[in-house]
Amino acid sequence: MPDSITHVLVPGTFDPITYGHVDVVRRARRICPQVTVAVAESLGKNGVGTTFSLDERVSLAREALLCEGLDDVQVLPFTGLLVDLAREVGAGAVVKGLRAMTDFEYELQQADLNYRLDADLESIFVMSSPQYGYLSSSVVRQIASFGGDVSEFVTPNVDAALKERFKER
Ligand code: PNS
Repeated sequence: MPDSITHVLVPGTFDPITYGHVDVVRRARRICPQVTVAVAESLGKNGVGTTFSLDERVSLAREALLCEGLDDVQVLPFTGLLVDLAREVGAGAVVKGLRAMTDFEYELQQADLNYRLDADLESIFVMSSPQYGYLSSSVVRQIASFGGDVSEFVTPNVDAALKERFKER
């Protein structure tokens, strides 16, 4: 078993990053000195393409975290397995947020898979703040796609990017 953990990954699709994600990153940062946000190439949960490209999602996440004062959190894209990225950057755990029981089964499945792939990589779950219990990237995309106001769910740079993206469609 490796030494105590000083570096964790906060992985996800971040299509796009929301205040719910920022909340999880902030919590991860409180429990660990080094946090890397790992943005997956990912086809998304339904196997359909993402609204923002991998590069766009990384840039949006970087700017959002800077804007929220989390300037010591690095943001990296990844295309393979999460366990490989963790080994590459020397991270000892994955931190994810749990909003409701509905998240639990999906997250448990991913944690089990990661355990099978690398039993040394810990999975740590933090409870999302109650005000973000309903918030997800897909809800934000849906509201924005119909021209609704999402400014209370995302940072200003993401709000602007969503407006631009859905104006194009
Ligand atoms: O935003 P999401 O959908 O909760 O993120 C899921 C993600 C990207 C963390 C997960 O799908 C992932 O780790 N993908 C990388 C491929 C991988 O390692 N798969 C095996 C473990 S699930």
